[in-house]
Amino acid sequence: MHARAVAATTTALLGTAALLVPATDARAGAERPTVIAHRGASAYAPENTLAAVDTAAELGIDWVENDVQRTKDGELVVLHDDNLRRTTDAEEVFPGRAPWKVKDFTAAEIARLDAGSWFGPEYADARVPTLKQYVDRVETHHQKLLLEIKNPELYPGIESETLKVLANEGWLDGPHLADRLIVQSFRADTVRTVHELKPAVKTGLLGTPAVADLDRYAVFADQINTSYASISLGYVAAVHAVEGPHGRPLEVFAWTVNDVNTARLVAGYGVDGIITNTPDVVRDALPAE
Ligand code: G3P
Ligand code: CA
Repeated sequence: MHARAVAATTTALLGTAALLVPATDARAGAERPTVIAHRGASAYAPENTLAAVDTAAELGIDWVENDVQRTKDGELVVLHDDNLRRTTDAEEVFPGRAPWKVKDFTAAEIARLDAGSWFGPEYADARVPTLKQYVDRVETHHQKLLLEIKNPELYPGIESETLKVLANEGWLDGPHLADRLIVQSFRADTVRTVHELKPAVKTGLLGTPAVADLDRYAVFADQINTSYASISLGYVAAVHAVEGPHGRPLEVFAWTVNDVNTARLVAGYGVDGIITNTPDVVRDALPAE
């Protein structure tokens, strides 16, 4: 039995008592969680821009997370919200185009927008990157990518289109599939579709599904990536006790953790990764490997 499955069984037997085990004891022998820069190093540079990728690299962070959506003319772009208002100057550049949905603008129109000044004047040159531009920059830094397909219900077929861009840019070769790429979504049907189209891609389901439902998600998801506030030592152990589609225990990445105490708390739960706007803070909060 895998060590985590043993731990989970132990936890199940101990029940509530296991939840009272101090964090340091709970993680004895466990690996240090992976640190993932959420939307890039988004506490220090405008989220989901190439600058945020660059900043993560400057901090020595290997993994970045992003959000992928689709323009009116079919280009995949990296942006969190389904509209352009919060993180660009779309309202000024295109007055009268409310509600400024990503899906209602062409790639050329979006490329004109300033995606950095909202964060700081020094980022006025930042643009909304295409997925191609984004993965190429991640590759330049030899980083790894946790790619979220955002709002897939708005973009039928985005799963295959995302995989096509990844393939074209060399991200579906052996080394990338082995350890440099995870595709995640809040929509289980999207995660399932990605798995069915390209079973070798590691996948994550965002959310905190009931333990009773984990078996059916484990058919197509390698990870359960969940809000840190919704989990416990027992929940993480229960996830680890389930085997995923590649014959390994399901993993847990927790989001969005931006302070030392919470990083140590969730590390104590045994999570496999911590998604954070402040990746340097979280990295430095964890014990050295
Ligand atoms: O990767 C987890 C996290 O990104 C999910 O939430 O809203 O920041 O995309 P959100
Ligand atoms: Ca995200």
